[in-house]
Amino acid sequence: MKLFVKKPLKQLLAASAESESSLKRTLGPVALIALGIGAIIGAGLFVRTAAAAGGNAGPAVTISFIIAAIGCALAGLCYAEFASMIPIAGSAYTYSYATMGEFVAWIIGWDLVLEYALGAATVAIGWSQYLNDLLHTFFGFTIPYEWSHSPFQVSDAGIHGIVNLPAIGIIFLLTLLLIRGTAESAVVNNIIVLVKVAIVLLIIGFGWQFISAANHTPYTIPADAGSVTLNTGVVHNYADTWNHGWFGVLRGASIVFFAFIGFDAVSTAAQEAKNPQKDMPLGILVSLVICTALYILFSHVLTGIASYKEFLTSGSEASVSYAIRHHMPGYEWLAKLVTVAILAGFSSVILVMLMGQTRVFYTMSTDGLVPKVFSKLHPKFRTPYKSQWLFFVFVSLFAGFVPDSIVGDMVSIGTLFAFVLVCIGILILRKTDPDMERPFKTPAYMIVCPLGALVCLGMIFSEGWENWARLIVWLLIGFVVYFGYGIKNSAVRRGVTNAADNPPNPHYVD
Ligand code: ALA
Repeated sequence: MKLFVKKPLKQLLAASAESESSLKRTLGPVALIALGIGAIIGAGLFVRTAAAAGGNAGPAVTISFIIAAIGCALAGLCYAEFASMIPIAGSAYTYSYATMGEFVAWIIGWDLVLEYALGAATVAIGWSQYLNDLLHTFFGFTIPYEWSHSPFQVSDAGIHGIVNLPAIGIIFLLTLLLIRGTAESAVVNNIIVLVKVAIVLLIIGFGWQFISAANHTPYTIPADAGSVTLNTGVVHNYADTWNHGWFGVLRGASIVFFAFIGFDAVSTAAQEAKNPQKDMPLGILVSLVICTALYILFSHVLTGIASYKEFLTSGSEASVSYAIRHHMPGYEWLAKLVTVAILAGFSSVILVMLMGQTRVFYTMSTDGLVPKVFSKLHPKFRTPYKSQWLFFVFVSLFAGFVPDSIVGDMVSIGTLFAFVLVCIGILILRKTDPDMERPFKTPAYMIVCPLGALVCLGMIFSEGWENWARLIVWLLIGFVVYFGYGIKNSAVRRGVTNAADNPPNPHYVD
């Protein structure tokens, strides 16, 4: 059985040419960088940073960001080469199908569900925290704890969560929006990006004067930092290997890695880019550099104004506005502004992720690897509405009933695994297909590719056996689906090359 059958490039280009006719090449380098930043800054920065600092890395979460950024930059270079080899819109799934074959493509496509669908769930949970913060600040009430938290969470007053309704609500609204096909236009995206960057800069600028050296000393968490009892009754012990010192910093890197997820979204806009071969790598790398600089400064300020332990207890939710309210007297207005900006900013990230998810499954469905229902288009809106609804249910199950720490870790490990495959893939392709045209070449690939894989593997390692087990279970389910369905229905295997059987991607931008 040939597991590694490749999708012919001709077929990819034919499908791409059809959709090309209706997509305008309007995006220049600045718009692409904005697209990247729009997808990148979200719950990773405003929710997970505090969690990583509080539980594992302490003030040295800044170094966690540097490690995560190195992993992303190395993988990003490989990603850019991959994307430039196949000059069409797509994801790592599409590129790997044409270069590394169906089986690897399947693993990556299946794995991307963790990145996109669960990524949307994680950000929606963060959205719910900040919604309550907003309601409390502006209207003096909050949605009852039990209806805005998963069953695995317990409040200070001992109330158990039942379901996170606001998280499901925002996913529902954005699903409706996506079905109607009114995705955010580039202009709206640019405005949201500006607001997000402005908020981060304001916090850095105004917060700097409130940094207390005591909060930054010692810089990594000492082994004798004691323990904190969480509301759930679980005792978080800083003496554990991954909860202090440099191991804690590495564990922190795998947590804040979430903050970088999304930079690959730039590659999905290849067909709308004016000069994709030059501007796409630029868009990916420049948005990464800008975000890394912002993240390091931001986390330096956040851990300087509040002590890291607070982020496990009283400041464990809506941590950024908590820190401003409790440690920056006179800046209540900034806390309010942050909350509003975060709600808008998170919505755009969720939107991009939900859209990315259905796009990947749309392509996999036209390839016959997942059922046709995922590529069924709405008669009027021309969007994959059935797929959108199915993913609404799937994402809601996680957003409603699982805490963000678990979902967020699953997103990180899934994406890191996809990055490892991309890094190794480029290394293999340089050997097996040395003559293929590569408008963008990963520099010093003999160093960059293995190093990228290694840094990502290091972060996977730090996630611990529970997360490895979750990833393995997810991949095993994927194998069952592939060998039970995909391999039998694969269009490439059945020799279906007619473009009508492989319609182009649907468009979401009006
Ligand atoms: N990077 C995105 C975020 O932090 C997923 O929300």
